[in-house]
Amino acid sequence: MSKFKVAVIVGSNRRDSINRKLARAMTGLVESRLEFEFVGIDELPMYNADLEGNRPDSVNLFTSRIAAADAVFVVTPEHNRSIPAVLKNAIDWGSKPAGQNVWKGKPAAITGTSPGAIGTAVGQQHLRQILAVLGSTVMGGEAYISFKPDLIDASGAITNDSTRGFLQAYMDGFAELVSKLAPAR
Ligand SMILES: Cc1cc2nc3c(=O)[nH]c(=O)nc-3n(C[C@H](O)[C@H](O)[C@H](O)COP(=O)(O)O)c2cc1C
Repeated sequence: MSKFKVAVIVGSNRRDSINRKLARAMTGLVESRLEFEFVGIDELPMYNADLEGNRPDSVNLFTSRIAAADAVFVVTPEHNRSIPAVLKNAIDWGSKPAGQNVWKGKPAAITGTSPGAIGTAVGQQHLRQILAVLGSTVMGGEAYISFKPDLIDASGAITNDSTRGFLQAYMDGFAELVSKLAPAR
């Protein structure tokens, strides 16, 4: 049986993003069950309703890739106790026009990392709220990852056994959610 397709969105446009590293490590934990496609958001122009009717190609490409996915996995930094503007911008493009909201009915999992002690907890609360309003089914549970320089090794593996076990369970839960909800879309 073919695997369900998951669009991965990293909420950072920073070249050495720790969230991109985390996203790669976490997707690697369930690659046997889910097929992941990283969907870039850096090239999107700032949302402007004046562009509706003649959307830029980068926007059409982005929304078509999300629409084609069975589910969404968002791994994001926290910026000033919310989500980064680059991520909010991508979500806004995907939410319009109202009848073509690409987030509606999508199973989603969210996580994120920052060097701070509460590892993006506040930003993730905002993200959960936004996606829920847009009609995504956001997986329950919480994964707030406080980033340490040795969390992920050069091969992309999560070094700490307990953290790896926790994140494995999180991603196994996501695979379960996707397999339950995606066929019903
Ligand atoms: C504008 C800005 C706001 C930030 N606000 C927060 C914050 O609210 N909480 C936090 O834990 N870290 C905050 N940080 C630090 C980020 O966690 C840190 O830059 C991290 O590396 C971002 O993830 P990335 O490497 O994936 O881009 C902020 C950084 C920037 C540039």
